[in-house]
Amino acid sequence: MKVIVTGGAGFIGSALIRYLIKNTDCTVLNLDKLTYAGNTDNLKEIDDSPRYQFVQCDICDEVKVREIFSTFEPDTIMHLAAESHVDRSIDAPLEFVRTNVLGTANLLHCALNYYQQLPEEKKAIFRFQHISTDEVYGSLGKEGFFKETTPYDPKSPYSASKASSDHMVRAWGHTFKLPVLLSNCSNNYGPYHFPEKLIPLIILNALDGKPLPIYGKGDNVRDWLFVEDHARALWQINRNGKPGETYNIGGNSERTNLEVVESCCKILDELVPKAESYSKQITFVADRPGHDQRYAIDASKLKRELNWEPLTRFEDGLRATVKWYLDNDWWWRPIREKNYAGERLGKGGK
Ligand code: NAD
Ligand code: DAU
Repeated sequence: MKVIVTGGAGFIGSALIRYLIKNTDCTVLNLDKLTYAGNTDNLKEIDDSPRYQFVQCDICDEVKVREIFSTFEPDTIMHLAAESHVDRSIDAPLEFVRTNVLGTANLLHCALNYYQQLPEEKKAIFRFQHISTDEVYGSLGKEGFFKETTPYDPKSPYSASKASSDHMVRAWGHTFKLPVLLSNCSNNYGPYHFPEKLIPLIILNALDGKPLPIYGKGDNVRDWLFVEDHARALWQINRNGKPGETYNIGGNSERTNLEVVESCCKILDELVPKAESYSKQITFVADRPGHDQRYAIDASKLKRELNWEPLTRFEDGLRATVKWYLDNDWWWRPIREKNYAGERLGKGGK
């Protein structure tokens, strides 16, 4: 199998490529623009494999994307490239519309053009797989779960752009019979997570003796999934999912943000003890504008139809993640020094 992974230099895309190279005999082409969030160091574990290649490319670039399709001749495409940080979508929403909406439409356009000239036996294998988020469903109260049939109700520029891209993908599937697959996943965590997101930001700020910022009261709830469980789900969906279908992916691990931050502090207290607990650095700060209260995924369809379930308990995955950051400062130190030092993003009101 020849697989194009878009956004393969990001957090989840790189986990997916590491998974594909280590666990399958696929050949992988990583198509990535290398924005601030893309980092080829994320692929160091596998980048000398003869089955891996990288092309720097913007998914909005029609000429270059067409050329990649015609020279690489993929059997499937897994589309993860996106602007992914809610706070940045509050500061600069148009880049989210450009990449997530127009970029996805351009990829669909180029993929369809390529798909239409494939022989029937190649058409039967080809999939356009779109990787999306639970945030498209909006925000839950105390009760209930997002199902695949939950109506869309995105509330941030990020989630609105992802919702829009999901609609584009379904439209290409419906109108042009492109064999599309969609999945909507909850919050991921794990190694190589860019330190603008809650868990890595907290770990690195804690080690630096800086405040650990909690938006609002810290009672917002997220459903956490270890990134390697997500990568496994994506490949299972790609090979065995039914074209046109959507699958929700979740960790069955709901936690308030305060619980997550306190758990990080507890693990650090044990692994790198100092005079005072790291939890003394917790600081409550102004809330994120439009902050979604709770996300929770019902992933029973994926379990029932494709026999997938998360294998990593949140407590084990979090401990492994903290240890990974402690052991891999070669990876995060240059990012914190040159790209993003942990300053507050997305306050709004400019
Ligand atoms: P990320 O921000 O870590 O990585 C995004 C990657 O896309 C980067 O390598 C970046 O360089 C690349 N990219 C951005 N714009 C591009 C463009 N115009 N052309 C080509 N490449 C471009 O994101 P992530 O957290 O790995 O998320 C990957 C996908 O999974 C996204 O589509 C996101 O919406 C979705 N998702 C993320 C989570 C999560 O918890 N992180 C959960 C559910 C779904
Ligand atoms: O649910 C899936 C989504 O999860 C993905 O689609 C997004 O790409 C991904 O970034 C993530 O979005 P969140 O907004 O949930 O993740 P983030 O890590 O930014 O924030 C997690 C929670 O922690 C959220 O309620 C906001 C809060 N938070 C975040 C930061 C960065 C804080 O309290 N303090 C912080 O400094």
